[in-house]
Amino acid sequence: MVQIGQNVSHAKAWLERGNVVGIPTETVYGLAGNALDTNAVLTIFRVKNRPTFDPLIIHTDTPAKLSQFVTDFPPAARQLADAFWPGPLTLLLPKQASIPDLVTAGLPTVAVRIPNHPLTLQLLAELDFPLAAPSANPFGYISPTTARHVADQLGNQIPYILDGGPARIGLESTIVGFEGDMPCVFRLGGLTQAQIEAVVGPVTVQTHSTDNPAAPGMLSSHYAPRKPLILLKPGQSPPLTNPNRTGMLAFREPVGGVPDAQQRILSATGDLDEAAKNLFAYLRWLDTLDLDLIYAETLPNTGLGAAINDRLRRASVQK
Ligand code: TXA
Ligand code: MG
Repeated sequence: MVQIGQNVSHAKAWLERGNVVGIPTETVYGLAGNALDTNAVLTIFRVKNRPTFDPLIIHTDTPAKLSQFVTDFPPAARQLADAFWPGPLTLLLPKQASIPDLVTAGLPTVAVRIPNHPLTLQLLAELDFPLAAPSANPFGYISPTTARHVADQLGNQIPYILDGGPARIGLESTIVGFEGDMPCVFRLGGLTQAQIEAVVGPVTVQTHSTDNPAAPGMLSSHYAPRKPLILLKPGQSPPLTNPNRTGMLAFREPVGGVPDAQQRILSATGDLDEAAKNLFAYLRWLDTLDLDLIYAETLPNTGLGAAINDRLRRASVQK
């Protein structure tokens, strides 16, 4: 049985013995293991049931430590790191040989991030290796934003979850790569395009996947509940053929005709940060109900709305 607690030394001891543990971050919970230990990394892939062609992010607590793991830090990357670390920013940088090829799925770049959570920063400061940590959900399912979410799905496979409370942002980090010094956003997340551009100027956004995407995890069917999720345009009413079998993820107000007990409101005040924080927990909750399908309203594309809509679109791809 998994133990859930706030004991950084426990988490550290498990990790030093090659185990994987759940860790809190400000974005979502991660499933962490020693990034330099191929067996620990293999355990991450196995526990998540994740294909090994989908590379992992490594986490440290200081930019100085990263110099052992990357060969180059372009000026634009440096500016972004200075502006947003610790925080919801992941940078794709050329890797050193010290990072196992398993971590990067054979790619020449490694994804790196300094997360902003006091318990995890303390843990990273006490470890003498970086942590590889994908989101702590089974591959393809909704990311976890509480320790309970992690325990519900992976609790029988991991010894410990460090409980840092509900994730403050609730969306994964924004991933930025570089061609030369030109930044490109590969995944929109907790940082908006406007926030990135305020630091480095105009960026291209390339979050749409192909069969062989540059960010392999950017597969279109992702973040998905088990029930079919159908996207509604803002203001569009759901066709209610069977209201008692229908769930609703609404933005500001409940939708008439769907029973209240089958609805969740992302933010009654229309606050997109609040909506982001609630998104995955509410989708999970709706997924536990005995329903045939779930409707979700598309949100305004401003602020975190763009990243929320991206997750809803990926979740709505029929499997
Ligand atoms: O907020 C987050 O980023 C969370 C927390 C735990 O830090 N982590 C997270 O990891 O979302 P994961 O594995 O669920 O998503 C990482 C994404 C994947 O889509 C993966 O394909 C992409 O990053 N990725 C990792 N390394 C890459 C690389 N070298 N090149 C391109 N994409 C990469
Ligand atoms: Mg993930």
